[in-house]
Amino acid sequence: MAKIISVINQKGGVGKTTTAINLSSALATLGNKVLLVDMDAQANSSRGLGIDNSLMNYSVFDLFSSDIDVKEVIKHTFPNLDLLPSKLKLFEFESDDYFVLKNKLAQISERYDFIIIDCPPSLGYLTINALVASNSVIIPLQCEYFAMDAISQLLPFISKIQKTYNPELEIEGFLFTMIDMNTKNAVETSQQLRSIFKENILYTTIPRNVSLPESNSNGKPVVLYRPKSKGAQAYIALAKEILEKK
Ligand SMILES: Nc1ncnc2c1ncn2[C@@H]1O[C@H](COP(=O)(O)OP(=O)(O)OP(=O)(O)O)[C@@H](O)[C@H]1O
Ligand SMILES: [Mg+2]
Repeated sequence: MAKIISVINQKGGVGKTTTAINLSSALATLGNKVLLVDMDAQANSSRGLGIDNSLMNYSVFDLFSSDIDVKEVIKHTFPNLDLLPSKLKLFEFESDDYFVLKNKLAQISERYDFIIIDCPPSLGYLTINALVASNSVIIPLQCEYFAMDAISQLLPFISKIQKTYNPELEIEGFLFTMIDMNTKNAVETSQQLRSIFKENILYTTIPRNVSLPESNSNGKPVVLYRPKSKGAQAYIALAKEILEKK
């Protein structure tokens, strides 16, 4: 059975997609079978793995809007790394069934060691579906004062999902992304947040590193595009930290 981890934060541009792609591929590189689920209509995860939307037959939208077999939607991308791709029309989808994704993933869960879900920057229908289906959540945060706002909205949201739909849901951890340890502010804020949230903050931090956006726009995970870069090393370290907790 796969461990299912959602990458969430309602704040845009904090590194959710970069984390979903590169954690997935780091786990795959370390020998795990991984499925990345692109739940964002922006389809950034799909593009980041080099999947061209116009060549796609089916997407996550079809999973939600029809009774298609989930196996028909899976795309093989790189070794050990499969994808459930997204399309723009996922924006339109609304329903009151919060168990769609959980039920679909249950059909293929035994094929994988990990299923990583890239969520959109909102706490709406699609993110609720992701959390209902998940064992845990990773919450990427930029190390700045506003991170506190995001946390103070997210924690009650997560506990509501735990109480209502998924008592098993755990916080894998907050993840500091795009961190620039040369700036005093980042160091102070990260120390402050660690002193408040303690073991809820992942030990690994992700540095600001140009190889990450570059590999993304080349449609390859950083561990394959530039394996020696600081970005690749950080996501391998994150994958090892997650493996230790499994
Ligand atoms: N560690 C990093 N170093 C440098 N650039 C980064 C890093 N992480 C992410 N970025 C860049 O920052 C931008 C936002 O990152 P990303 O798309 O991963 O965020 P997101 O939370 O998924 O955004 P959205 O909320 O729109 O889905 C992208 O251009 C990405 O390439
Ligand atoms: Mg994204």
